[in-house]
Amino acid sequence: MSVETGSVKFAILGTARIATKVGEAIHNTEGAELELITSRTLENARAWKAEHGANVAAEGYEVALLHPEIQVVYIPLPPSMHKEWAVKAAEAGKHVLCEKPPALNSAEVKEMLAACRANGVQFMDGTMWSHTPRAQDMKTVLNSGQLGKLRRVVSAFSIQMPETPDQHRYISELGGGALYDIGWYCVRAALWAFDAVPTHVYASATYHRGVDKNAMAMMWFDDDRTASFDCGYDLTRRKWMEVVGESGNLVCDDFLSPWDLEKQRFWVHDDQGVATEHQSRSVVQEASMIESMVQILRSGELNRFWPQMALDNQRVVDALILSAKDGIKVEVN
Ligand SMILES: NC(=O)c1ccc[n+]([C@@H]2O[C@H](COP(=O)([O-])OP(=O)(O)OC[C@H]3O[C@@H](n4cnc5c(N)ncnc54)[C@H](OP(=O)(O)O)[C@@H]3O)[C@@H](O)[C@H]2O)c1
Repeated sequence: MSVETGSVKFAILGTARIATKVGEAIHNTEGAELELITSRTLENARAWKAEHGANVAAEGYEVALLHPEIQVVYIPLPPSMHKEWAVKAAEAGKHVLCEKPPALNSAEVKEMLAACRANGVQFMDGTMWSHTPRAQDMKTVLNSGQLGKLRRVVSAFSIQMPETPDQHRYISELGGGALYDIGWYCVRAALWAFDAVPTHVYASATYHRGVDKNAMAMMWFDDDRTASFDCGYDLTRRKWMEVVGESGNLVCDDFLSPWDLEKQRFWVHDDQGVATEHQSRSVVQEASMIESMVQILRSGELNRFWPQMALDNQRVVDALILSAKDGIKVEVN
């Protein structure tokens, strides 16, 4: 990977809802520039450029691959399209920032990572909260030994997600489903807290037209550690996690994105009922992710942690999806 100089130029594939926030983060990140917005239609690309700003608007995602100045391709397409465009971007020599889930299964993710490795480009998935100062602050507490041995992670992510015709989350062929989409983050919380991948998982889901709209999951790790979560499209908005040690626990009631940008908090409870509130630096998490990518590219060295985390996260989600379908405990491959 060459050492980057000047602004890192980004292209966005598709005018997704999330692209609006990430586009704004690119605008607000020093050393990043939004060069290109692409869409299936020129009309949409132009409308997006007029509203959110980009140097160029173009019809067709291929334009990003052919554009010599683009260094990073951001892929917020439906999950079923991620592999194709990540591999194409890597083969065109572009770094890849791909929304979660990175693909439909870990075999696809392995292909994507192989293409990135072969072409000397970075891969990162869009799990934004992992890049925030608050995630680092919480990790410092977990690593400090203050909670004793960490034994359990419990989390929940639910939202009310209406089924509209353009909602890819309810379309199986496009990679829809709550485990892929939002269970993803709860899996990440457990991998992140334990620095480990579970050996076995179990999940139970409720399906709507072949898509899991609600799920409960359990994960078994070695060394007597467990994690569980629930996720769903038909409950009120929740986005909390608890990491439980033998002598204390850490609670964050909005780890996926702060309820209030100015209050990026978490709490540490001891076993006598004393709770200490911690407040982290206020940031926009989309910007934390963009900064993270820019820093890696500036460093001149590919980062191996984020691609491995993406693959491990997908391996676990694969196993959960299989478990929910078959109704049995499944080994994580
Ligand atoms: N990290 C996060 O916090 C976060 C948050 C939200 C979503 N996401 C992820 O980001 C991705 C996009 O989610 P979103 O809800 O923002 O998507 P969305 O609004 O539905 O947009 C997806 C875009 O993909 C393009 N597209 C191409 N073929 C399509 C097809 N057959 N059906 C629908 N869209 C198609 C469209 O852009 P054009 O028509 O302009 O080409 C569309 O605007 C998903 O992987 C999702 O899980 C991540």
